Amino acid sequence: MARISWRSFMLGCYGQPKKMTQQVSSFPRLALSDLSRPTGMLSPEDLSTTLVGSNLHVFTLAELKAVTQGFSPGNFLGKGGFGPVYKGFVDEKVKPGLKAQPVAVKLLDLEGAQGHKEWLAEVIFLGQLRHEHLVKLIGYCFEHEHRLLVYEFMTRGSLENHLFKRNSTALPWSTRLNIAIGAAKGLAFLHGIEKPVIYRDFKASNILLDSDYQAKLSDFGLAKYGPEGDDTHVSTSRVMGTQGYAAPEYIMTGHLTAKSDVYSFGVVLLELLTGRRSVDKNRPMREQNLVEWARPCLSGRRKLRRIMDPGLDGEYSVQGAQMAAAMAYQCLSKKPKSRPLMSAVVVTLELLLELNDAPIEPFVYVAPAVKESSGEEESMGSAVKDHHHGGFRRGVRSRKVGIHHERASPVDHHSRRINARID
Ligand SMILES: Nc1ncnc2c1ncn2[C@@H]1O[C@H](COP(=O)(O)OP(=O)(O)OP(=O)(O)O)[C@@H](O)[C@H]1O
Ligand SMILES: [Mg+2]
Repeated sequence: MARISWRSFMLGCYGQPKKMTQQVSSFPRLALSDLSRPTGMLSPEDLSTTLVGSNLHVFTLAELKAVTQGFSPGNFLGKGGFGPVYKGFVDEKVKPGLKAQPVAVKLLDLEGAQGHKEWLAEVIFLGQLRHEHLVKLIGYCFEHEHRLLVYEFMTRGSLENHLFKRNSTALPWSTRLNIAIGAAKGLAFLHGIEKPVIYRDFKASNILLDSDYQAKLSDFGLAKYGPEGDDTHVSTSRVMGTQGYAAPEYIMTGHLTAKSDVYSFGVVLLELLTGRRSVDKNRPMREQNLVEWARPCLSGRRKLRRIMDPGLDGEYSVQGAQMAAAMAYQCLSKKPKSRPLMSAVVVTLELLLELNDAPIEPFVYVAPAVKESSGEEESMGSAVKDHHHGGFRRGVRSRKVGIHHERASPVDHHSRRINARID
């Protein structure tokens, strides 16, 4: 199977676009194995020729300005490392054949740390990969120095906003589980295709939610094709990702494998269980790093109850939480080989949907906490149905649906990017 490198893609842009043999969808798939070349050679015409068959729409800056009402503050959805994101609306009048729909338009911040490379990775990966748990890229704009991306609009925004933002409604347990399953399916798809893709930036802010809280992965700016042939890993000269989510061995060595994504998945699973951020500088020192703080508590029922998100109000399957915690523990294994495959994670998490052993009694506040017996916790394998909620609540809470809980962090965080050269 021919693999076209970024280099040959760039050079190919000046001659005939290369024909590739691998067909993932209905058109030849490009590879992007070397992003180190200068990118100035690529012309917009070359890119749109090469991506013919991807059904991506090519927009002008003026069109995207019009659909977002001039990138007005009223349409502003948020801002990440790439730049600001605005809501817009497109239809046939903007481009013939374009379905009438709301969109999210991401605009490259020309002063920012990201650039053409990340934009192009997004266009090439998301333009070619289609899956129900990947956000759909509708099109792009490539005009002079301007780089924009147009996505399907994800009504409920990012998982990060739901889990951590002040005044957000606490997500119920079953929703958290479905989100974990959807995101796991997205990763399992990337790892399982003929030419596997390592996502490299799995985190709560890159998991977007549609109106039904279905999870979809966005942001392929750091994605890479997996190792080929006998290679065990992809060597990266620059460690990229986000602090608190990136796998320790990847940070240390720059060696990237699909198991790096599995580690990051484990971190997000912990965030879903605990309602805490992977890194939270507003907490006491020993609680700032979620993995370090939570890991010792993942293997016992009583310890686990201590770290579960108080926003859940005890309304979760005890057995399901134990099994999810055990899964997180495996994903966070220091040895990459001990981490499960994402396909196995999906199978296990789907089983948990069947469990409904949440406490069913009416809410009673029981004043804090009976002292835990001297460290003897039940083992992970000894899950039993438990209808007793044990009084481990952190405060009086209303059970009304839709009540707004104060989320843990008083300030608006922005996760710290890793961008370090390996010497
Ligand atoms: N397709 C979309 N639909 C709806 N909202 C979106 C969409 N894409 C992004 N957003 C919103 O825009 C904001 C910024 O997203 P973006 O992906 O640029 O940054 P981020 O994920 O917060 O940070 P990072 O640059 O580290 O990935 C987020 O709050 C997200 O909720
Ligand atoms: Mg993002």
